[in-house]
Amino acid sequence: MPKLAINGGLAEAADLRGKIPRWPVFTEDDRKALMEVLESRRWCRLYRGSRVEMFEDSFAKYHDAKHGIAVANGTVALELALKTIGVGYGDEVIVPAVTFIATASAVTEVGAIPIFADIDPETATVDPRSVEEKITDKTKAVIVVHYAGYPANLDEILPLARKNDLFLIEDSAHAHGTEWRGRKVGAIGDMGGFSFQESKSLTAGEGGIVLTNNDELAEKARLIHNIGRVVGRPGYEHYILSSNYRMTEFQGALLLSKLKRFPEEVEKKHSNGEYLASKLRKIGGVEPLRRDPRVTKRGYYFFVLRYNPEEFSGLPKSKFIEALNAEGVPAGTGYGMPLYKQPAFRKENLKGIFPKGFQVPDYEKIYLPRAEKFTASEVTLPHPILLGEREALDLVVSSIEKIKENVEEIL
Ligand SMILES: Cc1ncc(COP(=O)(O)O)c(C=O)c1O
Repeated sequence: MPKLAINGGLAEAADLRGKIPRWPVFTEDDRKALMEVLESRRWCRLYRGSRVEMFEDSFAKYHDAKHGIAVANGTVALELALKTIGVGYGDEVIVPAVTFIATASAVTEVGAIPIFADIDPETATVDPRSVEEKITDKTKAVIVVHYAGYPANLDEILPLARKNDLFLIEDSAHAHGTEWRGRKVGAIGDMGGFSFQESKSLTAGEGGIVLTNNDELAEKARLIHNIGRVVGRPGYEHYILSSNYRMTEFQGALLLSKLKRFPEEVEKKHSNGEYLASKLRKIGGVEPLRRDPRVTKRGYYFFVLRYNPEEFSGLPKSKFIEALNAEGVPAGTGYGMPLYKQPAFRKENLKGIFPKGFQVPDYEKIYLPRAEKFTASEVTLPHPILLGEREALDLVVSSIEKIKENVEEIL
């Protein structure tokens, strides 16, 4: 009789879905908040005291930032940050090799060139030494990604950026609630961008925000995001030529309502994450990211583990994930490859992206060993699992143990 569900055995975590909240979560308060906007007939933020304005203030305060500028999504949050600090044609911006494509496409969207740096596989965030190696006289900024909610090493990156006169942008699309040394991420560098897309831990389906502690940058970002207008001034006065990145009042109201519950959710995910990491570490071959006392709070997008086939008698990662899925655990592979390997970085697909005469790296020739190794071993669990009770986490652990004990069945 086969034991593993992939072979027709009983699924170890068949009950898991019933033990974790259905994503995205919403409550009656959220419904009420949305209906209030609908009935108010004020669906656009262009008035003083709007829902979006209230959300900007609340989220910025929660994230230890002075200013928040809400936008339509996390991709344009990065574009807005880059435009605000003045990144433009021909500038180079250093980005980590392991991230979602928006980290790099925001750079090309403002006419600049993304330069990939390697990562530290223990934290899945950019390696400061690799960043240092990539700095040239064209480098204008560094974007760090707090990958899966794990904060980049700001103790090293920030002084490095300052020493080289570079702006530091924190792509915090995964990192709502994340803290580095007791301070929330996003405005520790010059500017930070967040996403509120449906899969994110705080969501309105779509949405984003830029955070900063710098008054001048905040004012400039606000102007750029509102097609050169100033809220409170006549609607057809425009002070600069730019675009419209505004968030709707529906998004603002929903986020404001959800933000009330969010700190509690972060606490729960943080402590569940620590619990899961301690259990997984005992199994062997499914190593969580490094525990570091400077990471005082983990916001989560993915729970990342690094799979070592040698500890599973050579079972390939893809088969391990298939077996885990069959047991009822919704594991995945994160982004699956370093970003420079995406078809978007092939020569034929880069035609027309950079102006003629630009010196652009041959992305097809890049090989960053730690990014390659990390993505080959990465297995991810979606963050809603961490909103379940301990029983749900125990099912994840016992499913992995079961695969390890019965691995001969699928070799
Ligand atoms: C690291 C990172 N940056 C930026 C974004 C862009 O956010 P959005 O999907 O809201 O445009 C995402 C979205 O998944 C992301 O994961």
